[in-house]
Amino acid sequence: MEVPQIYVEKTLAIIKPDAIHKCDEIEDIILRSGFCILQKRRVHLTPEQASDFYAEHYGKLFFPSLVAYMSSGPIIVLVLSRDNAISYWRELVGPTNTLKARETHPDSLRAIYGTDDQRNALHGSDSFSNAAREIRFFFSDSIVEPVAVGQAAKDY
Ligand code: PPS
Repeated sequence: MEVPQIYVEKTLAIIKPDAIHKCDEIEDIILRSGFCILQKRRVHLTPEQASDFYAEHYGKLFFPSLVAYMSSGPIIVLVLSRDNAISYWRELVGPTNTLKARETHPDSLRAIYGTDDQRNALHGSDSFSNAAREIRFFFSDSIVEPVAVGQAAKDY
């Protein structure tokens, strides 16, 4: 008997600063959409770390505001897995511009949780190689947050 093959893929998802207050609701949708959450981390990026993460967009007009925004508050970073995780997550997230998402993909997460093309609630890796790079970026211990003297380490 032939055993059906399921190709499980991983992708990186970010719940951005504008949507972090809705993270429980969003994680619930993620799980109900067939993803497993393999890893999870709450991070507050420095502007330098945000610039590194978005380095491929360096030089674009929106780069400075993207970096300022992504380092303006904490984010939740998730490694998601399922079959076709990369394309399925981007489909669920919807178009970059929230206003366009509301017109063309009203059920997408950006249509529901986003505000505009900057504060668009969520990020998803756009390719297999970027997913691998982005997962390494957040989960290889290269992002270490400074802990103020006397402050107990938080359990992320
Ligand atoms: S591009 O030029 O088509 O590759 O850019 P795009 O894929 O649409 O967006 C790349 C990331 O930049 C963010 N973005 C913006 N930030 C601030 N202001 C403006 N105007 C803007 N336009 C795009 C966009 O949300 C993407 O971030 P991620 O985290 O990858 O979704």
